[in-house]
Amino acid sequence: MRTPVNVADYERLAKETLDPGAWGYYAGGAGDELTLRENEAAWARWCFRPRVLVDVAGAATTVTVLGQELGLPLLIAPVAFQRMAHEDGEAGTARAARDAGTIMCVSTMTTTPLDEVAAQGSLRWFQLYVFRDEGLNRSLVDQAREHGYTGLVLTVDAPVLGLRERDLRTGFTISPDITVASLGRGGLTPLEAFAMVSPSVTWHDVERFAIEAGLPVVLKGIQTAEDAFLAVEHGAAAIVVSNHGGRQLDGVRATIDLLPECVEAVDGRIPVLIDGGIRRGTDVVKALALGARAALAARPFVWGLATGGEAGVRHVLELLREEIRVSLALLGCTSPEQLRPEHVARRD
Ligand SMILES: Cc1cc2nc3c(=O)[nH]c(=O)nc-3n(C[C@H](O)[C@H](O)[C@H](O)COP(=O)(O)O)c2cc1C
Repeated sequence: MRTPVNVADYERLAKETLDPGAWGYYAGGAGDELTLRENEAAWARWCFRPRVLVDVAGAATTVTVLGQELGLPLLIAPVAFQRMAHEDGEAGTARAARDAGTIMCVSTMTTTPLDEVAAQGSLRWFQLYVFRDEGLNRSLVDQAREHGYTGLVLTVDAPVLGLRERDLRTGFTISPDITVASLGRGGLTPLEAFAMVSPSVTWHDVERFAIEAGLPVVLKGIQTAEDAFLAVEHGAAAIVVSNHGGRQLDGVRATIDLLPECVEAVDGRIPVLIDGGIRRGTDVVKALALGARAALAARPFVWGLATGGEAGVRHVLELLREEIRVSLALLGCTSPEQLRPEHVARRD
C-alpha cells in the first residue's frame, strides 16, 4: 500500500502488522459486537447542511476544554497496553499528542509509568479504574497530580469487564515483559487486571474524588440524560458520552444517538465530550454540531501506533485535523465554536 491517506488505510495496515490475538483485543467488542458496528454506522445517518459565501480565510480548528486550548477538537482516548501495539507505546503516543497540541488520556493500564509519559510534554489526563485497594487509588491520583496531569477521568461503564469473545477464541494473553506500570506487574490478562477493579463504585465516590483529588473529574461512560444530570449534581467537571467503543454492554445505542439527550440534560453547565466510532474529521464535526465540546478517539490512534509507532500516531492526528479543517470551511465555519445543530440533519 502507498502512504496511508485515512484512518481506514491505517486500520488495514495495523491488521497486517499485529498478531491475531493483539488485533482481536484492539479491534474487538463485546458479545455480538452490535454496538461496535453501530457506533461507526451511526455517524453516516447524520448529514451536513452547509452554508456558503462565508469568508473562511484564516479559519481555526482550536477549542478550549477545561481551560486548556487544544490544536484540534479531538483528544486521544485512554487505551490499555500500548507497548503491545508498538515499542514506542504510550511515550510515542504522548509525543504525537504534544506536537498536535491535544490531550492524551493515559490509561490506568498504561504500560509506561506515569512520570515517563509526563516527561514527553503533552497535555495529559489520567484515566482511573477505581480499584478495590483504596491506597492504590490514592497513590495513582497523587502521582497524576504530581506529574502534571490536569484531569482525572473516571471510567464509569466498567464495574466488570465486558464479555469479549474474540479474546476467548484467540486465547489472548499479554506477554510477561509488557508490564502494567500502575500495578507493577507484567503478563496480566485484561480479566486478571479487572479482578482488582471495584464493582461497587457509586455517585458517592464521584463526589469524594471531586472533592479530594485536586483535579477536575471527567466521567467517561455516560449514556443517558438521567446520568448526565446526576454527573453535574455530583461535581463532575465534564462528561464523556461513551459506550467504551462497544467493549462493555453490547446492544446499547451508538453514542452520537445519545449525545442530544445528554447535552440537553447538562444544559451548558459543564462540557460534554463524546467518543465511539469516530474515524473521520467529519464525524468530529457532526459531534460538535450536536453540542459536544470535543471528541475522543481510541482505535484510530492504535492503528497509527501499530503501523508506524509515534510517527503513525502523529500522521493520524494530522489527517484528522486536516479533515476537520476542510469540513469546517466547507460548512461555512471559521471555528469549531460556530457549529450549530442547524449544520446537520438526520438522514431519515
Ligand atoms: C484496545 C482498547 C483499549 C481500551 N482501554 C481503555 C482503558 O484502559 N480505559 C478506558 O477508560 N477506556 C479504554 N478503552 C475505551 C476507549 O477509551 C474509548 O472509550 C473507545 O474505544 C472509543 O471508541 P473508538 O475506539 O471507536 O474510538 C479502550 C478501547 C480500546 C479499543
